[in-house]
Amino acid sequence: MTERGADDEIDFEIDPEDLEGSGPVVTEIGAPSLVVDDLHITYRVFGGKKVSPTPEEKPSFAKRILTSGRDQLGGVREVKAVQGISFVAHYGESIGIVGINGSGKSTLLRAVAGLIPPTQGAVYVSGEPSLLGVNAVLMSSLTGERNIMIGGLALGLTQRQVRERFDEIVEFSGIGDAVYLPMKAYSSGMGARLRFAISSAATPDILMIDEALATGDATFRQKSKERIDGVRENAGTVFLVSHSIATVEAMCARVLWVHKGRLVRDGPADEVCEEYKQFVRQVRERRKRDARAKS
Ligand SMILES: Nc1ncnc2c1ncn2[C@@H]1O[C@H](COP(=O)(O)OP(=O)(O)OP(=O)(O)O)[C@@H](O)[C@H]1O
Ligand SMILES: [Mg+2]
Repeated sequence: MTERGADDEIDFEIDPEDLEGSGPVVTEIGAPSLVVDDLHITYRVFGGKKVSPTPEEKPSFAKRILTSGRDQLGGVREVKAVQGISFVAHYGESIGIVGINGSGKSTLLRAVAGLIPPTQGAVYVSGEPSLLGVNAVLMSSLTGERNIMIGGLALGLTQRQVRERFDEIVEFSGIGDAVYLPMKAYSSGMGARLRFAISSAATPDILMIDEALATGDATFRQKSKERIDGVRENAGTVFLVSHSIATVEAMCARVLWVHKGRLVRDGPADEVCEEYKQFVRQVRERRKRDARAKS
């Protein structure tokens, strides 16, 4: 895998106005909420580049005929997106996950959320992990209003609780009357804000956010930070995947740096982010040099 996209979206700029009173709130760290033990996730991609068999593996004539249709589509390719990640998260912690494009952050989050089964290893979650799969149940052909109900039910709220929180969710997302339009008509920012508003509506035990904050404006970021802090104050655990290092530094005390599916660092946000920034700078320099050499 190449280090593609290292400079595509990564945002170093700290805009103090975006994150007023920034810095993660200090919360007492409690008992473990989540244990990830030697997690491996391998995707099987059909129709990908064919891996040529070694002479001993060469299929017989009969087998070649029987599988000829599949062969035309290409073989099965394996993508090892997560390769042996282990860590323990605690109640009261907010943990940032950084890494360049394709490093396995979203896969890790989806596996922790129980949306993808581990190929190897295990994820143990204590408490209610119900919040986790909200994005998976939302349907773009339905209105925001319907999705609030569906997402709320998936979080374990009752219909009545969802109705009670409806106005607050819409208000938080800032999408206004667009809530009555199908979600496919939303801009990506509107969709992300509504998803975030829904997934954090139930003060979950574990709140997981994948890039949602990057799309919001300053006010939305500020509100998101307040909500994240709220979850932590209620002794939940927050995971935040973002290409905005400033956001991660402002909201998380601990950071996991994932590279090529492996955990390369797990430590205090300032230390890990500093090392990660240096790495990204090096990748940028190298790519610039390569581009110059080519031209
Ligand atoms: N559904 C899938 N099927 C096959 N391969 C996948 C799938 N989803 C992700 N991958 C591959 O797994 C690897 C990790 O992808 P992942 O989306 O977890 O990275 P990421 O760190 O979240 O990247 P980004 O910063 O771009 O969001 C990549 O090589 C990607 O191409
Ligand atoms: Mg991702």
